[in-house]
Amino acid sequence: MTTIAEDLFGTLPDGRPVRRWTVRDGSGAGFSVMELGATILTLDVPDRHGAVADVVLGFDDPSRYLTESPYCGAVVGRVANRIAGGRFTLGGKACQLACNNGPNSLHGGTIGFDKRLWSGTSVTSAEGRGVRFTLTSPDGEEGYPGTVEVSVTYVWTEDQRLIVDYAVTSSAPTPFNISQHSYWNLAGAGTSALDHLLRIEADRYLPVDETLIPTGELAPVAGTPFDFRVAKPIGRDIEIDDIQLRHGGGYDHNLVPNGSGLRAVAELSDPASGRQMTLATDQPGLQLYSGNFLDGTIIGKGGTLYPHRSAVVLETQHFPDSPNQPHFPDAILRPEWPLASRTIFAFSVA
Ligand code: BGC
Repeated sequence: MTTIAEDLFGTLPDGRPVRRWTVRDGSGAGFSVMELGATILTLDVPDRHGAVADVVLGFDDPSRYLTESPYCGAVVGRVANRIAGGRFTLGGKACQLACNNGPNSLHGGTIGFDKRLWSGTSVTSAEGRGVRFTLTSPDGEEGYPGTVEVSVTYVWTEDQRLIVDYAVTSSAPTPFNISQHSYWNLAGAGTSALDHLLRIEADRYLPVDETLIPTGELAPVAGTPFDFRVAKPIGRDIEIDDIQLRHGGGYDHNLVPNGSGLRAVAELSDPASGRQMTLATDQPGLQLYSGNFLDGTIIGKGGTLYPHRSAVVLETQHFPDSPNQPHFPDAILRPEWPLASRTIFAFSVA
């Protein structure tokens, strides 16, 4: 029987309380989430001996998510990843966003969805139990047009899948690209994730320029370090002298999963513990980010130091810079076409 408990996770510097929900199944597996950023705080799953460990990075205090978190566990938006120059033109009107990542806009701008206080409520559905968060992003927020109503629902199933459902409407056309930004380390935090095996069903990826904006090409992965079609350790090719790996400081690229509609796109596993995670999504892109900017200075939950590349982020999303690249899948949310999208993280042991 899955239980849900609600408590106060902490208080922000301006005095706003931040509530947390903890969802746990009969085996002790489950997750916790908070209202700030609709963020996944913990995700506990068993290893092959039944020992449960927390497999996501994070912090013990909500304030640290405002000041030093590299988007740990958060929902990122209104537009995940980068928009070149923070500029786009929509319906003949030029829009300028804050450039919060070198010359570009990253993850929704200065105060993206990750830094907003969402409103949560527990939910029970046919698939399981969990939490729904809602947020209103007003017209003009961070320079984006249209009022956007967002809901993100996390549900934990009996067979240990975390289902993430997005439901979004907008009062006017706006670029929109929402994603879940959990940092995974299936061994439990604090160790390198480079030994994890990763398989991604993608024949193509998006090469980038030195500011991590896609060049526009959909390049074959064959013969490159971006070929994950057969499972390999994340670290196997990461030090190859390759211009793309140099631009990213490792993997920080959007792969183009084969097929369309809700489909399995990736599988991550930790050979030592036996924990594995399969990722399914209906989104056209998957950002593979190997934690290159974790520089070994962050101290996270329980005082654990997070070393360089000690986690991997797998972001289901639209292609980066879509508003400026007309041949990419359309990432404009329109009033007449609300968004309903699903991503599933399924856990098991080998
Ligand atoms: C981006 C990285 C960025 C990170 C922020 C990822 O989604 O691709 O370039 O540094 O988010 O922590």
